[in-house]
Amino acid sequence: MRNSHHNGRTGAAPQPRAVNRGGVVWMTGLSGAGKTTISQVLAARLGELGVPYELLDGDALRENLSRGLGFSKEDRDTNVRRVGYVAGLLARHGVLAIAALISPYRAVRDELRASVHNFIEIHVDCPLEELVRRDVKGLYRKALAGEIANFTGISDPYEPPLAPEVRVDTSTESPDDSAARILATLERLGLISLDRSTYAHQ
Ligand code: ADX
Repeated sequence: MRNSHHNGRTGAAPQPRAVNRGGVVWMTGLSGAGKTTISQVLAARLGELGVPYELLDGDALRENLSRGLGFSKEDRDTNVRRVGYVAGLLARHGVLAIAALISPYRAVRDELRASVHNFIEIHVDCPLEELVRRDVKGLYRKALAGEIANFTGISDPYEPPLAPEVRVDTSTESPDDSAARILATLERLGLISLDRSTYAHQ
C-alpha cells in the first residue's frame, strides 16, 4: 500500500493533510545522477502528507512495461512514451506519478509536456566527471572502455531540458534538499496544497 489516504479501505479514515490535483513529476538526467534516490525521498514525503503517488522508475519498468526494449533512439523514445502514457493515466485520476528515466531526447519529453496533465520536468543534473567518479553501477567504467555501446553521456547524446520547472545539481545538493525544492514547486504550481493548520498542532 502506497499510503493509507489513497487506499482508504482499512482502519479509520485518516485525516487528509494535503489536497492533490494529480500530475506527473518527470525526472530526467544521466544514469547515476540521483533520479531514483530523489524520487524515493520525494515519495516518502508525499506519503507522509497523504498525497497519493506512484513511482515509475526506468530501471524497474524495463523489467516489465518496457521489457525487450534496448537503447537505440527509437527504443528510448518508445520507452519514454509508454511511461508517459501510464503516468498521464495516473495523473488524470488524482495521483502524482513520479517518473525517473534518463529520457535523453528533448523532443519526446516536450511531446509529453504537451499531452500529459500537469507535467512538471525536473532536471537531475550532475557533472559527468562526478558520475564517472561515483560509478555506482560500474557502467561508466565499462562504457569508457567501449564495453557498452550507446551509453548516455559517453557515446550517446543527452539533451538537457531548456526550461525545467526545477533543476537540481546532485554534486552540490543533498537528496533531501532536492526533494524539498521539488515539493515547494509542486505547491507553488498548485499541484498540491498543504493544509498548514494541521501541522500547527503536530
Ligand atoms: S531511457 O534512455 O530509455 O530513458 P532508462 O532510464 O529507461 O533509459 O534506463 C536507463 C538505465 O539502463 C541506466 O540507469 C542503466 O542502468 C541502464 N543502461 C544499460 N545500457 C544503457 C545505455 N546504453 N545507456 C544508458 N543506460 C543504460
